[in-house]
Amino acid sequence: MKAVAVFPQSRQIKVIDHPEPTIAMPMDVKIRAVNIGLCGTDREICSFHYGVPPTGSDHLVIGHEMLGEVIEVSDGVTDFVPGDLVVPMVRRPCPHDYCPACRAGRQDFCYTGDFTERGIKSRHGFMGEFVVDEQDFFVPVPQALREVAVLVEPLTIAEKALLQVGSIQQRLPWTCPKMSAEMGIEHRCHNAVVLGAGPVGLLGAMALVARGFRTFVYSREAAPNHKADICRMFGAEYISSTQHDLMALAAMVGNIDLVYEAVGASSLAFEVMKVLGANGVFIFTGVPGRKAPIEVDTDLIMRNMVLKNQAICGTVNAGRDAFEGALADLEIFMQKWPDAVRALFTRRLAIDEAPASLVNGRGSIKDVVAYA
Ligand code: BGC
Ligand code: ZN
Repeated sequence: MKAVAVFPQSRQIKVIDHPEPTIAMPMDVKIRAVNIGLCGTDREICSFHYGVPPTGSDHLVIGHEMLGEVIEVSDGVTDFVPGDLVVPMVRRPCPHDYCPACRAGRQDFCYTGDFTERGIKSRHGFMGEFVVDEQDFFVPVPQALREVAVLVEPLTIAEKALLQVGSIQQRLPWTCPKMSAEMGIEHRCHNAVVLGAGPVGLLGAMALVARGFRTFVYSREAAPNHKADICRMFGAEYISSTQHDLMALAAMVGNIDLVYEAVGASSLAFEVMKVLGANGVFIFTGVPGRKAPIEVDTDLIMRNMVLKNQAICGTVNAGRDAFEGALADLEIFMQKWPDAVRALFTRRLAIDEAPASLVNGRGSIKDVVAYA
């Protein structure tokens, strides 16, 4: 079958002929690709900054965002039948019996670092026509979400983040008090700022709006622009960092209860941390490249953290709860704002077109490889 692979040593990205995977173990499920998403992580891997081929291989088949259809199941499989739609999870557990996270099926919290990730770290990914894996690594998808379910994996980043915000904020009174409609006050007491208007940022913003946050997306590109239009479609406000500095942002938002960082730019993130509000939570999801060290006002940040009860948290990848949450949310997004969800898709590509899009595809939101 055709697959997209990176060869880190020779610095090549190309479509290769890759052996079609076959069912081997009793719990194996074989799926055929419907859509495979291209993302910032894939682009990083294709610029050779990230990504590790499997041991003994000179290349890595990339791809970790996929919607597939089950075409064959092994003898022991109880959860799926051919025709089912599924999304595979990305991370696979480390082998150590002293890792409580991996042993509990929570490899997204692996302690040892010896986890693997399909299409990213030491395991081939999904950017080919077929995938085989154990049933435990697949999440069932309702047929009604076929058109958009390739967005599940990037949405899990926000889902996992918001699950954590929920548990962190159990430390204080966080439920919005009912405000009277006669007073003209909207029943929304929490303000969220999303940094970045890529797919992870925009999907995170949708999840925040759906949970009742007044949501602001802070991103570089001057407004008006396509991403600002999409934000308006689902009820978030787009603010351009080239048109409004931090003080202007803080003045527009009021108390910043949550910052959801989805750019991977540390300089911007630590600036914004200075305006995080009382009892605020700052969540990092982006993985920055290593640039030169920058100056940070650590006294101000530390003072604020203490005097304003702030919490700062990083989050990677996702567990089954976040995949299920993403599916439930995607259904809600499609009921509320189907046009905004569809607008996240930029290009539908044949697999032969994927390498070029991975190298020069900036500017798009979500490109997908689409099979008929
Ligand atoms: C993927 C995650 C992965 C992370 C770091 C992201 O793009 O969505 O599943 O853990 O990259 O490798
Ligand atoms: Zn991704």
